[in-house]
Amino acid sequence: MTIEHELIKGVDKLVPRPDIALEVMGLANQSDCNITALSTTINQDPSLMANMLRMANSAYFGHMKEINSVRDIIVRLGLDSVKMIAITSASAGLLKSPQEAYNLEPGALWRHSHATALLAAIIGRFAKIGETASLFSAALLHDIGKIILNRHLQIETMNRGGIQEYPTLVALENALLHTDHAKVGKALLQKWGLPESITEPVGAHHNLDECKGLPSGIVYLANHLTESIGIHGDDSESSFFLLKEEYESAADLPDIPGFHEHMDVIITQFYEQFNGAATLDFN
Ligand SMILES: [Fe+2]
Ligand SMILES: [Fe+2]
Repeated sequence: MTIEHELIKGVDKLVPRPDIALEVMGLANQSDCNITALSTTINQDPSLMANMLRMANSAYFGHMKEINSVRDIIVRLGLDSVKMIAITSASAGLLKSPQEAYNLEPGALWRHSHATALLAAIIGRFAKIGETASLFSAALLHDIGKIILNRHLQIETMNRGGIQEYPTLVALENALLHTDHAKVGKALLQKWGLPESITEPVGAHHNLDECKGLPSGIVYLANHLTESIGIHGDDSESSFFLLKEEYESAADLPDIPGFHEHMDVIITQFYEQFNGAATLDFN
């Protein structure tokens, strides 16, 4: 058994109903998404359903009339929105736990993941990649390996009585655990049966050489940008300049079609969406 498989054993206990969350993600990521099956599955998990309705009624979608059912979401917001809401809500439970070993307070990983997903989907639209549901999911789940490695890193750090400095987080993980959160995240999502379009970008998000297709490059870029400037939902203007500066000074970032020429619009759209969604408080 590989290190990654050893680490992900028993991880299914992390969320109350991982079976439903995963089925929803699986259905939403199929190109011929079966809406009846999707609604039926969602209706089996009241907290998932509540999160979806809260998100559909948030400022993010700016809908005036109250949305009261999954059917309402489909009719009023369209299939793409349903998929995005379903994937987001299903992942929120996983990503909200605190990750002490990474110095992440409760909610911090969720905010970073959500920001990366919104940014990746916008970059994807400007790069004309068509369907953005799996890009959104991959970006949302890119750091999921941290949830698994958190406890192991804590134990290793304690056993060693603290840790020396490492140039990067991935270097630290590899030194202490002989793997990293990108590899473990990929192995976990493969175990859960998610498609390659999601597992590939997750596994490659810290290694440019492994970014084979455009979606992987987009997730790499979106993660790099949200990570390097931090996300300050209330201050889009200064963040915009930081982001632009970071992009222009960074040595090796993937070349994504449409990104450089549309950077202003992409960042503006990102902050509009992120601020609209920031008020969401998932359970
Ligand atoms: Fe990461
Ligand atoms: Fe990240």
